[in-house]
Amino acid sequence: MQLAAEIRDLHKYYDLGPVVVKALRGVTTEFPQGDFVAIMGASGSGKSTLLNVLGALDRPTSGQYILGGQDTSQLNDDQLSAIRNQMIGFIFQSYNLIPQFTVIENIGVPLQYMRGVRASEEDWCVELAERVGLADRLDHRPTQLSGGQQQRVAIARALVNDPEIILADEPTGNLDSETEAEIMQVLVDLNAEGRTILMVTHEQEVAKLAKRQLHLKDGMKVFEGVVRDGQMISDGEVVLADDADSPPSPISAPPDAGSDLYEVDDSGSTDGANFNEWNE
Ligand SMILES: Nc1ncnc2c1ncn2[C@@H]1O[C@H](COP(=O)(O)OP(=O)(O)OP(=O)(O)O)[C@@H](O)[C@H]1O
Ligand SMILES: [Mg+2]
Repeated sequence: MQLAAEIRDLHKYYDLGPVVVKALRGVTTEFPQGDFVAIMGASGSGKSTLLNVLGALDRPTSGQYILGGQDTSQLNDDQLSAIRNQMIGFIFQSYNLIPQFTVIENIGVPLQYMRGVRASEEDWCVELAERVGLADRLDHRPTQLSGGQQQRVAIARALVNDPEIILADEPTGNLDSETEAEIMQVLVDLNAEGRTILMVTHEQEVAKLAKRQLHLKDGMKVFEGVVRDGQMISDGEVVLADDADSPPSPISAPPDAGSDLYEVDDSGSTDGANFNEWNE
């Protein structure tokens, strides 16, 4: 089976001077084309960090990220941007629309970034707006739209370069349950078309709609597989076997300041209060 993306022993550390935060600590997995994965785990477990690396917005500290068969460490920044624009669409919890722009202009933003919007591209933006159910809202601005409608604009924007992979960081996090179901249906449909979807979520109800789940804890993979009727059916290596008895709680306290998630440089002074700040 062809892989959309693959990560091998991925580490991501944030160097904050006196302290290094180990946000990802050796994650290995494969995402086949057409996969739909819910990335889950407690706050601070490294979900967004992983998504940023998968989205080629950030480079790993060590380990490999292979995107569309290419080892991204071999690409310079321009090449990485090009492959990102071609292969990946992003959807965020807070929509990230440009307030002054209309629906159509917002959808076309990635095209302008690439090469300027041509007339045929405007037709394409209209087609995408229709596809996500916004045919009668083309000239509205974000403040004139509901949260669900704004997220639809963001989904259409994510599709504008016809990406193979869609990355979504808590796409329904700001939505009521009815709107959440509508937006999830759009994502399920996009996956049924063959697009690979990698989605961070805190909610079991949302994660159930994915084909698989990947659970992180303290920057490591603790479970990968299918969750059915509360049963976890692993399809990969379980790194922390102790945690595989039950699905990790979607929300729990941030990691301890004293854990090995942090490496303190003894030459500088630091105290526990700082850890809390960094975890907020
Ligand atoms: N830019 C950064 N600089 C320093 N530390 C960071 C940075 N981004 C994230 N971290 C730290 O890395 C760890 C993982 O953060 P990340 O944002 O990936 O968590 P998350 O699982 O997405 O959490 P949440 O569910 O709250 O969004 C946390 O300890 C966080 O404080
Ligand atoms: Mg996050």
